[in-house]
Amino acid sequence: MKEITKYRNNRILCIGAGYVGGPTMAVIAEKCSDCIVTVVDINKERIDEWNSDKLPIYEPGLDEIVKKVRGKNLFFSTDVENGILDNDIIFVAVNTPTKTFGKGAGMAANLQYWEIIARQLRDVADKPKIIVEKSTLPVKTAEAMERVLNDKDKFEILSNPEFLAEGTAVNDLHYPDRVLIGSRETKNGLEARKVIVDIYANWVPSEKIITTNTFSSELSKLVANGFLAQRVSSINSISAVCEATEADISEIASAIGSDSRIGSKFLNSSIGFGGSCFKKDILNLVYICKSYGLHEVADYWESVIKINEYQQNRFVANILNSMFNTIAGRKICIFGAAFKANTDDTRESPSINIAKMLIEEKAKLVISDPKALKNIEFDLKHYKSKIDYINDPYEAALESHAIAILTEWDLYKNLDYQKIFETMIKPAFIFDGRNILDHKKLFKIGFNVFPIGKKAMLHYN
Ligand code: NAD
Ligand code: UGA
Repeated sequence: MKEITKYRNNRILCIGAGYVGGPTMAVIAEKCSDCIVTVVDINKERIDEWNSDKLPIYEPGLDEIVKKVRGKNLFFSTDVENGILDNDIIFVAVNTPTKTFGKGAGMAANLQYWEIIARQLRDVADKPKIIVEKSTLPVKTAEAMERVLNDKDKFEILSNPEFLAEGTAVNDLHYPDRVLIGSRETKNGLEARKVIVDIYANWVPSEKIITTNTFSSELSKLVANGFLAQRVSSINSISAVCEATEADISEIASAIGSDSRIGSKFLNSSIGFGGSCFKKDILNLVYICKSYGLHEVADYWESVIKINEYQQNRFVANILNSMFNTIAGRKICIFGAAFKANTDDTRESPSINIAKMLIEEKAKLVISDPKALKNIEFDLKHYKSKIDYINDPYEAALESHAIAILTEWDLYKNLDYQKIFETMIKPAFIFDGRNILDHKKLFKIGFNVFPIGKKAMLHYN
C-alpha cells in the first residue's frame, strides 16, 4: 500500500530519451503498471523513432518491452513544458558530456543541459516536485541546482544514478545489483526518498535498494565507473608485460580472478575501454580532485585513461611493426565499430581512434559491423574517401592484407576463417583485439596471428 504524499505518485516524467532515459522508463512502465510514464526530449527525430517500429537505439530485449507498454502507460513526447506541469516526479536523464570550452575544458562535465532544465523547471513548475538526477553528475550538483531552482520548499533534488551497461541494459534494469537513491536527510528529503524507493520496490528486493545522502550517491556513480575502468586498464597494462615475457593474459586473468577478493569480471584484456561514460566520468573525477587540491588523487585516476590510450597506440604500433613497418596502401579490414558487443553505440569507441591512426599510416580501410555502421560513418565523416563500410564480413575482408577484431560480437567468433583466408592477400594477418578467436586454428589455416597479451603466432621470423 503506497503512502499518501503531496506528490502524485502514479505519474512519472523523464526528461531525456537517450540510452538511459528510454530503457529505464520502459522498464519502470513495465514493472509499475499503475503508473503513467512519459519520456520527453527536445530531439523530435528521436521521439518519432521511439514512437515507431524502429527504436532509436539497439538494445537486446528492449523492442519487446516498448511494444508491450507504449501507448498504454508509456508515452514519448516533445512537450517538455506540459510534461513538467503534469508530473510531480521528474527524472532527468539528459547528456552530461565533457566540457569542450572555457574553465575545465577537456575535463569537467558540461552541465549546460542540466542547467537549462533547472531554469525551465523553475519557470514552469506550479507545485512541489521531486527532481531526480538520473544523469551522471559531479558531486555537489544537487546543491548547485538548488541554487538555480531557488525554492527549497518546492523542489526536492534526489540523486538516483543509473548503473546499466549498454548491450545488457534490460537485464541490468530487471535485476540490478543495487539501486542507489540519495537525498537530503531532512523531513522533506526523506519523504521524497520514500516516493522513489516505492517505485523501485515494485520489482527490486528491498535489500538491493541502498539509500544515502545526496552527495555520496552522486560521487558513488563516478567512483563505480572509475573502479570498473581501472580494472580494464590494470589488466591491459599487464597484457603489455605478457607480450614481453611470453606469459598469457587469459591464464593470468583466470588465475587472479579465481581469488574471490579480486573476482573474475572485467578482466578481459582488450584494445581499451570505450563508451560514452568511462573516460568522461574519470575526467570528471580528476577535475573534482584537482579543484579540491587533491593532485595525487587526480594523477592516480588520470593514469587509468593514460593506460587506455597507451593500449590503443600499442595495438596500432603492433600492426605496423608486424606488417614490416609499412601499411601504406594496404587494405586493413576492421571487424567491429561499436564500443562493445550488442550495441549500436560508437561513442568513444576504440575503433574510431584506431581507424584514424591507421589512416594516418595511409592504410586503406574497410569497416564492418552488424549494428553500428551508420554511427561510425558519422563519427568518421571527415575520412569519407578513405574508408569503405561493408556490412557483410566476408565481403569486407575480400582482398585485404589484415583483419583487426575490435568488437567482441559473437558473429566474429563463428565466421568461416578458412574461406576468408582464401580471399585475402598473403601473407594474411589477423589482430585479435578482443582475444575472442581460436588462435591455434587460425594459425593452422595460415594466418599470422596477433592476440592481445599472448605470444604472436607467425609463419615468418
Ligand atoms: P543520450 O545522449 O543518449 O541522451 C540524452 C538525451 O537528452 C538526448 O536525446 C538529448 O536530446 C536530450 N536532451 C538534452 N537536453 C535536453 C533538454 N533541455 N530537454 C529535453 N531533452 C534534452 O545520453 P545517455 O547515454 O542516455 O546518457 C544520459 C546520462 O546518463 C549521462 O549523464 C550519462 O553519463 C548517464 N549514463 C549513461 C549510461 C549509458 O549506458 N549510456 C549509463 C549510465 C549513466
Ligand atoms: C559502463 C558500466 O559498466 C555501467 O555500470 C555504467 O552504468 C555505464 O558505464 C555508464 O555509466 O555509462 P558500458 O560503458 O555501457 O557500462 O559498458 P561496459 O560493459 O562497462 O564496457 C565499457 C568498455 O570497457 C567497453 O568498451 C568494453 O569493451 C570494455 N571492457 C569491459 C573491456 O575491455 N574489458 C572488460 O573486461 C570489460
